[in-house]
Amino acid sequence: MSDEPIKVLLIEDNPDHAQLIQELLAKERSKQFDLACAARLSTGLKLLAKRSIDVVLLDLSLPDGQRLDTFIRVRDHAPQLPIIVLTSLDDKMLAVKAVQQGAQDYLVKGSIDSNLLGRALLYAIARKQLEEALKQSEERYRTLFQYSGTAMVIAEDDMTISLVNKEFEQLTGYSKNQLEGKMTIPDFLAEKDKQKIIGYYKALQKGKKIPPSYTAKIKRKDNQIRTIFASVGLIPRTKNSIASLTDITEQERTERELKKKSNEIRNYARQMKMAYQALERAYLDMIHALVISVETRDPYTRGHSERVTQYSKEIAAKMGWNDKELNNLELACRIHDVGKIGVSDRILLKNDTLTISEWAEMKMHPVKGAEMLTFSEYFKPVIPIVRHHHERWNGKGYPDGLKGKNIPPGARILAVADTFDAMSSARPYRDAIDYKKIVVELKKNAGTHFDPEIVEIWLEIMEKYGISIL
Ligand SMILES: [Fe+2]
Repeated sequence: MSDEPIKVLLIEDNPDHAQLIQELLAKERSKQFDLACAARLSTGLKLLAKRSIDVVLLDLSLPDGQRLDTFIRVRDHAPQLPIIVLTSLDDKMLAVKAVQQGAQDYLVKGSIDSNLLGRALLYAIARKQLEEALKQSEERYRTLFQYSGTAMVIAEDDMTISLVNKEFEQLTGYSKNQLEGKMTIPDFLAEKDKQKIIGYYKALQKGKKIPPSYTAKIKRKDNQIRTIFASVGLIPRTKNSIASLTDITEQERTERELKKKSNEIRNYARQMKMAYQALERAYLDMIHALVISVETRDPYTRGHSERVTQYSKEIAAKMGWNDKELNNLELACRIHDVGKIGVSDRILLKNDTLTISEWAEMKMHPVKGAEMLTFSEYFKPVIPIVRHHHERWNGKGYPDGLKGKNIPPGARILAVADTFDAMSSARPYRDAIDYKKIVVELKKNAGTHFDPEIVEIWLEIMEKYGISIL
């Protein structure tokens, strides 16, 4: 409190009493008081409006104001001011009522000394300041509560709702009047989550820990079910709880729809994959049908592709190829002569030596075969093997004259297996060639016609089959 004199307004119609108060205040040395007096309530109220006053001393019995009404009129006129009521000994009950209505204190006329008066005035001012500070703080928290932007609810220890904000009214569909003091927290919980949330509230009251936040379903006044994200805690030094609730129904719906969409996309991708696999199978079936049709046209080559496939795989397996490489090689071997579908029967089935132009047409079958396979990604790894299966190690093969290791390994393997099967099978114009002669032929052409390492591997395999290579 500053050193300024305390400005006291005395509203008292009895001049003797006013005189006494003035004298008592003058005697009080601990603090300086500046006294203004009014003998009527109306004059007192005018003075209050005009002057700066720190505290009011109020007689409750005035010519123009009677009993409690006198106090109420002054209080309402200057709600921020501390008021001490003055009463006679036989009317103490009235003074108590005034204190209950907001007076800071009361003094009984005739029992006042300067010390008591001075102390009562100072305490009244201090108490009022404290009350105002508390009121302001409550006001601040109430404002925060009301304008938090989130639905908030305060409940008593029996879960009766005592305070809600605007957002809570919107969330539940109930008005403040329907909620406060009339409904309980479980009243707006959906059946599914009722027991869980009641459990949390009971645990809170017992001082037990509960999850810092949780989701729950609530049932609005219009019976609509909403999903909320909530957190609840006890208000310090009370049994009251405060909860904040956020409506996450739309967010939840969006997440659900996203999940559904991503499932649909996954299903679509699965269907696409299945369709693609079916298409690949169809391509493969078609190519096999073409291979069979080529072999059917020339009975002497029937089963040729099957045998070449078996021999080539044995060579590649011995060279350490992996499953994927072996599968590609198998496919390439089965279809390597598919391009012969484009060679006319006159040339394909001719028993006699081919003319230069006929031979040129025959030599086109690896190119035609490779071209036939370009319409599907599935055949991409086997195209080089099909195209180059008639290349020679020394670069004198066809169609591109590739040399040595520039020839794809699969094509080099296939060239050896293909030649072996052709020589060991009967032709319309000759019998099957003797194995020994074939071995001599293969050895002779290793390093010119064939990859010498592959010939060597094949000769080892022939031995395994009991075919002497000596
Ligand atoms: Fe061929």
